[in-house]
This record gives sequence, structure tokens and C-alpha cells, in this order.
Amino acid sequence: MRIDIITVVPELLASPLNESILKRAQESGHAEIYVHNLRDYTDDKRRTVDDYPFGGEAGMVMKIEPVYRCIEKLKSERDYDEIIFTSPDGITYNQHEANRLSLMKNIIILCGHYKGIDYRIREHLITREISIGDYVLTGGELAACVIADSVVRIIPGAIGDEASALTDCFQDNLLAPPVYTRPAEFNGWKVPDVLLSGNFAEIEKWQDEEAWRRTKALRPDLIEK
Ligand code: ADE
Repeated sequence: MRIDIITVVPELLASPLNESILKRAQESGHAEIYVHNLRDYTDDKRRTVDDYPFGGEAGMVMKIEPVYRCIEKLKSERDYDEIIFTSPDGITYNQHEANRLSLMKNIIILCGHYKGIDYRIREHLITREISIGDYVLTGGELAACVIADSVVRIIPGAIGDEASALTDCFQDNLLAPPVYTRPAEFNGWKVPDVLLSGNFAEIEKWQDEEAWRRTKALRPDLIEK
């Protein structure tokens, strides 16, 4: 899978995209992630990517031309399945959307910035608008990292242990059951006996029950869904 991220602050993306699973997925060829600096698509000396809004509201607006040029260049090189814009007023991101995106071949993520973006870009170029939650970030870069991370980790083969991605929280709309590791007792705090029993049917039953119990207690809205 190929992910092209368009941003005015490429520095913000460097570390999160080049460590851990994302790094390994790129090294093993499961994912290609490219970061494009929007300022490289400007045509003035000061590399301007924003301007004052028509109508005189406060704040700056991302200009249409650099975004158009960058997206059109990428589109001339390959087909894209989705052109995503990160914005607090997009659809709320969740595991279902991550699963859907992970099946795609090429996606673009355009990181929103400033007060917003010239709306014509959203109307004519963007195919999906995604928010990572009902709060406002300084820019869409962190949202782009969240999307890239959550998508790449579930590409088949990207993490060594595929079963692990499938038993993640939310994969079946349930929270994950508790997990433990050695020692079996610490400070008098014990690991549940069933996990030490070696009885896999019982262990699975316990994990199911715990997933339901935790979801009912902490996220009943997931069960209603
Ligand atoms: N940009 C600013 N806030 C955001 C959010 N909550 N989700 C996605 N992009 C954003």
C-alpha cells in the first residue's frame, strides 16, 4: 500500500512514520509512505501556502493552487482510491474506517492547517474527510499519523503476528480482554488462575467474557452499535 501525505510541516511527520511497526512495514515492502512539502508546489519566492479569507474572518486559509498542483501531480502518476482531508469536521475515525482504508492500494492524506482550506478543494478534489475526534488540533499532521499508523499495522503481513492485529480492541466492536505476563504473582497480585491452566477452551471463554464485561462497563455505546 502507498500513502502520500501532503503537509506544510513535514518535520512533524518524520519520527512517527519512521519508527517501530511503520518503519518495519516500509522496510519489508508492505507499505510505502511519502511526505510532500506543500511549499514545494508554490510559485512565489516566499513559498506562500496561505492567504486571508474572503469575507474578512479571522485566521488564514490554505490556498488552492499549491494543493491542486500537488494532488494533480500525484494523480498523473497513479490512480488513488481515496484522497483524504484531515479536519475536525470530517467523519469520526474508527477501526471500521481503518480496516476499509487498509484494503486500498494508494491513498493521499492532505493535512489541514490554519483556519481551514479553500473550500473548493474539499468540493472538487477530496473524496473523504476524516476527524480523529471532537477536539481541535493545531493541524492535521497528528491525525495523518494516527490514520497511517492504524492502517499500516493491519495490512496483512505488516506485523509479524497477524492474529494479534485481528484480536485488537474494536475489531469486533468489543474492548480487548486484560492481558498479563510473568511473574504469575507480584506483590501478592495474582494473574487469573484460568490463564495458567493450559485449558485453551476455558481461556478463550474467559477472554470472551472479559471482553464483554469490560465493554459493558466502559463503552456500552459499542454494544448498542
Ligand atoms: N485537524 C484539527 N483537528 C483535527 C481533528 N480533530 N481531526 C483531524 N484533523 C484535525
